Amino acid sequence: MSDVKLAIVYYSATGTVRGMAERLAATGESLGAEVRLRQVERTPTGGEKAATDEQAAEAEEAKGAAGVTADDIVWADAVLFGSPTRYGNIAGQLKVFIDSLGAQWGAGQLADKVYAGFTSTSTLHGGQESTLLALYNTIYHFGGIIVPPGYTDPSKFVDGNPYGVGHVAGQGDRPLDGVTFTALDHLVTRVVATAKKLTA
Ligand SMILES: Cc1cc2nc3c(=O)[nH]c(=O)nc-3n(C[C@H](O)[C@H](O)[C@H](O)COP(=O)(O)O)c2cc1C
Repeated sequence: MSDVKLAIVYYSATGTVRGMAERLAATGESLGAEVRLRQVERTPTGGEKAATDEQAAEAEEAKGAAGVTADDIVWADAVLFGSPTRYGNIAGQLKVFIDSLGAQWGAGQLADKVYAGFTSTSTLHGGQESTLLALYNTIYHFGGIIVPPGYTDPSKFVDGNPYGVGHVAGQGDRPLDGVTFTALDHLVTRVVATAKKLTA
């Protein structure tokens, strides 16, 4: 479908958002995009705990995943940012990374790219939409092109989040499922297709 350069940049404490990012990466690659899957450095936050032993093991493994740098954003035609919802906002760790991009912002290197977001909460709704909107506040300042899913596919009437993709993880007892995977696939397909048009 494309040789679009796609950066998937996420923070995840207990593995849910990481699983979402991995799905986006796999689908993005299947679409022909060149994908960089990058995690923001994990640092402890009060209240975080792996809900299951399996998630704890996954989170431990993720420590070895490639860390994000500013170059990953500059390089990309499209960027998907993922974060757990924290009090209806993105995680501070992702915000610290975004705040480190001042030089690239000043040089205009963050503008004119496609952006969208994904998140995970413990509770139903739980601030998913406010998290995505908070993320998008930053993208306006970048001069980025936000490509939300809207209701551009029948599947969006099932997951019901026109702002991006959100998964309700419960206490870690609600793993990623078909509804979320379908929503992620739709988002990355739309983002890659739009970026391809912009880079043509
Ligand atoms: C400090 C903190 C704040 C949180 N705030 C919310 C919240 O506002 N709404 C919610 O439903 N879950 C909240 N959660 C739960 C996480 O969003 C949820 O566990 C998420 O699935 C974790 O994603 P991860 O596995 O990728 O780390 C919070 C968790 C922490 C540690």
